[in-house]
Amino acid sequence: MYDFSPTPGQSKPVLYQDLVEAALAITQDEPDAVANMANCAALMAGFLPDLNWAGFYRMLGGELVLGPFAGRPACIRIALGKGVCGMAAATGKTQLVPDVHAFPGHIACDAASRSELVVPVCRGGAVIAVIDLDSPLLARFDAEDAAGIEALAKAIADRI
Ligand code: SME
Repeated sequence: MYDFSPTPGQSKPVLYQDLVEAALAITQDEPDAVANMANCAALMAGFLPDLNWAGFYRMLGGELVLGPFAGRPACIRIALGKGVCGMAAATGKTQLVPDVHAFPGHIACDAASRSELVVPVCRGGAVIAVIDLDSPLLARFDAEDAAGIEALAKAIADRI
């Protein structure tokens, strides 16, 4: 049994440090990318408060395809440049969206989502996936969340 859980009351940087350590521990020596993404999605959902969706889209055949996640069923394929995820994949840049209704082309998979953070996962100079977090709260994510998920993306890039 695994027992990874956040310590209550810690700062965001420490929370993300613990999340990255848990992700590295649970993916260690496991070569299956789907298993590793599934456990990382579960860790994000468990560690990070106020989320309604946490998971992966993988770059496959020039488009994003839904990967392991925690949350409600989501749209399966996203073209590069479309929505928040497609923008992150096309530009290779983190997308921090305080109000999804103000993001042109936002793809609503869950009507409850109000803010979103999407971070590209890169390997060998190419985007291989994105990590997508959704929240029902406006402006749920800040620069510390972006830095934390970027650290996670870097840590697991060779394991997914
Ligand atoms: N909102 C995303 C689509 C994926 S769902 O949030 C899970 C987007 O605009 O790309």
